[in-house]
Amino acid sequence: MLKTEERAALIRAASQAREHAHAPYSHFRVGSALRDRSGRIFTGCNIENATLGLTICAERVAVFKALSEGARDFDAVAVVADTERVTPPCGACRQILWEFCRDAEVILSNLGGQIEIRRVAELFPEGFDASFL
Ligand code: THU
Repeated sequence: MLKTEERAALIRAASQAREHAHAPYSHFRVGSALRDRSGRIFTGCNIENATLGLTICAERVAVFKALSEGARDFDAVAVVADTERVTPPCGACRQILWEFCRDAEVILSNLGGQIEIRRVAELFPEGFDASFL
């Protein structure tokens, strides 16, 4: 469980990353920030593509950036969008969070400061993983 100020810092990082979103098709800008247990923060934003189908969400960008830099053990992930209700991760991102951030706290926030906390297992019960292979 993160301290209030750690949560606020992660939300700030996600909000800043959101500024870099490439979302000319949906105009829906999302930022994400992932924290490893040593406190390092990795950020991501959604990056859309003219094919639409090759779009990647902010959460997966943050996870893949972190993994590619050698980080592995994560305790929290924040997702920020400019919506009235907070924005939950899509199904594809939930699968990735389940594989790499299973025990992380998921912090959903909008720009108005509304915050909701979830667990990955709550968002993605009975996920498929390596134990089924
Ligand atoms: N999107 C994210 O980046 N994260 C979410 O949690 C929900 C959706 C992006 C994908 C697409 O670029 C845009 O938001 C609209 O779906």
